[in-house]
Amino acid sequence: MASFITFEGIEGCGKTTQLRRLAERLTAAGIPFIVTREPGGCPIADEIRGILLDAKNSALVPEAELLLYAAARTQHVQEVVRPALAAGTHVLCDRFFDATVAYQGYGRGLDLQLIRQLNDIATGGLAPDLTILLDCPVETGLDRALARINATSGQREERFELESIEFHRRVRDGYLALAAAEPARFRIVDGNRVIEEIEDDLTTAVLPWLTGRHHGI
Ligand code: TMP
Repeated sequence: MASFITFEGIEGCGKTTQLRRLAERLTAAGIPFIVTREPGGCPIADEIRGILLDAKNSALVPEAELLLYAAARTQHVQEVVRPALAAGTHVLCDRFFDATVAYQGYGRGLDLQLIRQLNDIATGGLAPDLTILLDCPVETGLDRALARINATSGQREERFELESIEFHRRVRDGYLALAAAEPARFRIVDGNRVIEEIEDDLTTAVLPWLTGRHHGI
């Protein structure tokens, strides 16, 4: 059976780099998978991503932001994630509904119960089999994220990186609270190490799910 694995963490935690390296290994091993991301993953959700992450949209109110994430997720789940899983293809997703709880809930202070209800509608009840939380100190993550922005200036995907350090601390605490509440689904990987060490841990956590050797959650 195909597995649905999500990757979460604060800005600059390294998940995108790690996902790329993992994908290279899986391709070499001949394992059928897709890599996708939220917000985005299909043309309509990518357009919503453009609105959400554009630094010029500083006037976007938290409730509208929440609904846009939910809209993008609804489209992505129905157009990409569910069909892939139904076809027996593993899905590796760079962020999913935990990001909404962490960012809009813990970060922005929106009602957690409301967010969970919206997540339920958006996913139709689909939840990840495994969620990797790549954890690192907020200062480390933001330093990396700002270095990336400087290297790729012009992309304008920086609305969240411009938030206060307190915001990012709340997001990190939110993720850690989620992981503590659902230890069977989450694996916390220490992202504050050299890339190769992180990659080894992450591969060890993920591979059993992609080769049918996991023992359930
Ligand atoms: P990315 O930089 O990892 O691609 O993620 C895009 C940004 O969107 C990141 O700052 C986190 C944020 N985000 C939310 O605030 N809520 C969500 O539900 C998702 C999926 C992402």
